[in-house]
Parts: sequence; structure tokens; C-alpha cells
Amino acid sequence: MVKTNIAVLGAQWGDEGKGKIVDMLTPHFSTVARFQGGHNAGHTVYVDGRKFVLHLIPSGILHAGVTCMIGNGVVIDPDALFKEVDELARAGVSVDGRLLVSEKAHIILPYHRELDVLSEARRGERKIGTTSRGIGPAYEDKIGRRGIRVCDVLGDREALATAVRENVSARNRAIKDSTLDWRPVIDRLVSQGERMKSWVGDVSLALHQTIVAGKSVLFEGAQATLLDIDHGTYPFVTSSNASIGGVCTGLGVAPKAIGGVLGVAKAYTTRVGEGPLPTELNGELADRLRETGQEYGASTGRPRRCGWYDAVVVRYSARLNGLDAMALTKLDVLDGLPEVKVCTGYRTASGTVTEFPADLRVLIGAEPVYETLPGWSAPTKGVTRMDDLPAEARRYISRLEEVSGVSCGLISTGSDRNETIIAPGSAVERWTKN
Ligand code: IMP
Repeated sequence: MVKTNIAVLGAQWGDEGKGKIVDMLTPHFSTVARFQGGHNAGHTVYVDGRKFVLHLIPSGILHAGVTCMIGNGVVIDPDALFKEVDELARAGVSVDGRLLVSEKAHIILPYHRELDVLSEARRGERKIGTTSRGIGPAYEDKIGRRGIRVCDVLGDREALATAVRENVSARNRAIKDSTLDWRPVIDRLVSQGERMKSWVGDVSLALHQTIVAGKSVLFEGAQATLLDIDHGTYPFVTSSNASIGGVCTGLGVAPKAIGGVLGVAKAYTTRVGEGPLPTELNGELADRLRETGQEYGASTGRPRRCGWYDAVVVRYSARLNGLDAMALTKLDVLDGLPEVKVCTGYRTASGTVTEFPADLRVLIGAEPVYETLPGWSAPTKGVTRMDDLPAEARRYISRLEEVSGVSCGLISTGSDRNETIIAPGSAVERWTKN
């Protein structure tokens, strides 16, 4: 068992294939912990050809003996959690004794979803394209100090009544003519609390004890750096810290508990929802990437926007998160293209920029600066050794490493666990050595 605790984070706009990477690395860790987001995430994992889509519970649950934790930084829709637990049970996977949910995590209330949809409608042209899961409104209530936490639901009924009354009043103020009654909300929460009770505990303490006992933890990110509320393409972001800082705040662990950081990036770029995507492609090439890569949202089924690899974005992620290595996924989707392009900067009205801008207006009308490299015709699909990749694919990878400022520790060449290359001598090889 390795002793390094590592964080696995999305380095682009999400959907980089973190589920597979976490699933592959999990046997080397005793615990997998989620630190932010909610059931807006969708992690697809294939085990022996069988497809699992997990939204809230870390994909580590598919490995017997691994403990899965959901931290205080996550927002929990109890019904979504129960649905997932029931689906896993039907597939023969039990969460009993293996799932710990933070008592400090905030609850997504039944009407948060409605507020999400309403808030999108009110934004008109500036809509975010959210997953409509109530994520943003739940975090708004958290920051607004009127949220309901898991421990509130399990605690004193009178105190819960006061908190819910306040929350429902805020909601009624937000929706014109709304007269929602707070009483049924309490009854529902109390019965949800009953079912959740046996999974709830102090995640921060449990992680501390795990680490002190010499066991290792994998911190599982959801969404990605460019969707981070502080560092992403604001306001077209999710409402949590999906980059490295979220690990500490969302789980209650100290920064020195994080021994390594792995950033997951696709060999091209995708984004779902609104907001800038400088390398976005349209037409035949975009359709080809979407169909070959099956680029449809795991949570919402929405078609993803597709474009070339953007090194400005990944370099930004590498710096911000202190990436030790990159896991490059879906390389095989590029198989057969006559040429491949890499964006190294943006030509804007005020000159060429190579650092990701804070002000998105800089990106309006910006043109990506591309380098064009030869494609490869021999398939990379299923390749498990670097030396077996076509020379042009190796060249593409090494150029991505140079322009992104981080080396590839892992390359994914297909959706199955085994369709993976671990780069010899890399940080990933070290982390996965028992
Ligand atoms: P929300 O997280 O539902 O509030 O959505 C905010 C933005 O984040 C939207 O553009 C969503 O499409 C995007 N988003 C949220 N979760 C994911 C994810 O798991 N993968 C990719 N995009 C996501």
C-alpha cells in the first residue's frame, strides 16, 4: 500500500474521464473522498464491459474493501444519494460500512432544483447552462448562512424547524406569489435523515485517523479547474472549488496531507453548457470528435461542445493546482485524423495572450494560435505500452507536455481499465507501486 495521498482533478472543463482514472488508481488506496460538487457530476466507469454511472458516491465504491467519503464541501440531494445506493445494491455492491457522509455537508432541498431553473430563465442571454440539479441554489444558501446541513436533519426537531422556516421564507421571497409551507419540508427531511443516519460522521476526523494509521487517501475531484467558482470562466462555472484548494476546505484536511496532484486532461477539449471555449470546432470535425468520443453528458445527456487541445488552459491548470503529472485521456479518439492541432495562445484585440485571462471579454473574438502536427493512422486504441504507440502519437504527446508544462504520467487509450499506459519513471508509476 502506498502512503502518498493524491488528488485527482479535472484540468479542463470537466468530463475528462476522471471516473476511469480514479477507478484504476483506487486499488492502491484505502479511501476515496469527494470534496465538492454534487450530483451534477457524472463519472462513467466500465468494469468488465459493464457500465456504471456514479454522480455522488465516489467511484471507489466499486472496489471491495475501499472506504468512500463525501466531504462537507459536497452538496447532497438525499433522493439522489438513495437512488445511487439502491442502484449499486441491485448490481451487488453494498455501501454498508464503507460510506461516510460528512455531518457538515449541505442538503439540496426539494425546491433548489426549481430555483435553479428559474434563475437560469431569469438570466436570459447570460444563462449558464446548468445541470438543473439545484447545485447553485444550495451553495447560495450555504454562503447566505441559511443552508440546512446533514447534522441539522439528524438533530433537534425544533432547531430544524427554525432553520427550515427561515430557508423557506427566503425561497418564497425569491419566487413571486410563492406560499410554500415549511412543515412538509421538515417531515421529508426528518425521514431522509433516518435513512442516512448510519452513514453520517466526522469525515475530517476519519481522514485524519486514516492518514495517521499510515493508510492512503485519494481525493476525487468533480467538474474541473475551468469550472471552479474562483478560478474558472466566471460566471460560466459551477458553484464550488473544483481545483486543489477545495480538497482542504471541502474535507477538512491540511494542505500537507496532499502528497501528489494528478490533473486529468482529454487529448482534445470539450465543454457542456454555456461560456467561452476558445478552440471550439463546428461542422464535420466537431461531429466526428463528438461521435467517436461519445461526447454526451453523463448526467444530462446534452451533446458536448468539442475543440482542439488548448495548452493555455492546461498550463493554467498545471500552475494553479501544482500538477505533478497529467493523465491524458481519449487519445484513441484522434486516431485516423490526417492532422492534429494544439492551441498555444489567443490572438486578441490587444495582442497575443498566452495566460488564461480573468476577463472573458478578452476572449470575445479571440482567435486561437495553433500548431499543426501530423496525425496517425495506426490505431492507439487499447495500446498499453508507450513504445507501441505510433511515432506521430508519441510526438503529439511530447509536444502537449512541452506546451502544457506538465508530463504525462498516464495515457488512456480506451474506456476499459486495462486500456491504459503508465509512463515509466513517472509520478503515476510511483503512486501505483505497492
Ligand atoms: P451546475 O454545476 O449544475 O450549476 O452547472 C454549472 C456549469 O457547470 C454548467 O456549464 C454545467 O454544464 C457545468 N457542469 C457541472 N457539472 C459538470 C460535470 O460534471 N461535467 C461537465 N460540466 C459540468
